[in-house]
Amino acid sequence: MKIIVGNWKMNGNAEILAEMMTEIANINTDNRVILCVPYTLLRTGTGAVMIGAQNVSKYDMGAHTGDVSAAMVAATGASATLVGHSECRACLHDTNADVAMRAEQAIKNDLWPIICVGETAAERDTGLTHKIIELGVRESIPNNATNGNFIIAYEPRWAIGAGVIPSITEIAAAHKIIREILNEMGFDETPILYGASVSADNVNEIMSIKNVDGVLVGGASLKKDDFIPIITSVK
Ligand code: PGA
Repeated sequence: MKIIVGNWKMNGNAEILAEMMTEIANINTDNRVILCVPYTLLRTGTGAVMIGAQNVSKYDMGAHTGDVSAAMVAATGASATLVGHSECRACLHDTNADVAMRAEQAIKNDLWPIICVGETAAERDTGLTHKIIELGVRESIPNNATNGNFIIAYEPRWAIGAGVIPSITEIAAAHKIIREILNEMGFDETPILYGASVSADNVNEIMSIKNVDGVLVGGASLKKDDFIPIITSVK
């Protein structure tokens, strides 16, 4: 079983979600599909589809206007959440420690956190890619993590929405580092996803790379004609 996460960002509506869930139900896939939708669309998943949020608060509750807690997300019936997505790290100025707090809240409330790590263009240009990945993994995993109760997504931040991906060798090297760190920490069953500019055209090549257990798909998860072929071609 592979994991395919769709990140709808600030897109979609209830009708599109219902249609997508029906389409996925019809293809009878063995893969686990997690649709991370805006808060207003959160609900219980069905069949192969889990519903997830795109972020959760660092805090339990209280005076945090505009924030949504992991408990609130869990109460909708959703069962997963992204944390540390590049766009959230950028606009909320999240450090790895902040991301770990969000992931901790998610686990505490029985949500499956998908912890995103990856380098910016500037970090890549200065040869920091592997250092950023290593720190991202080590520092963003919360204290209440156990083997398999979280997911890591490697998302090179410069490649998100860009229509380009790193070379196969670069993706393989990044995933190898992540796998080694996870093994060392006792998390050998934690899935590692690749995200950023995944499409039906490149998904097979990406999935053939060692230590890639699934994909995180942004733009191409919004339309069934783009997303369904990705789900069906992942084996
Ligand atoms: P993209 O987005 O597939 O459109 O590059 C990926 C993401 O933001 O998670």
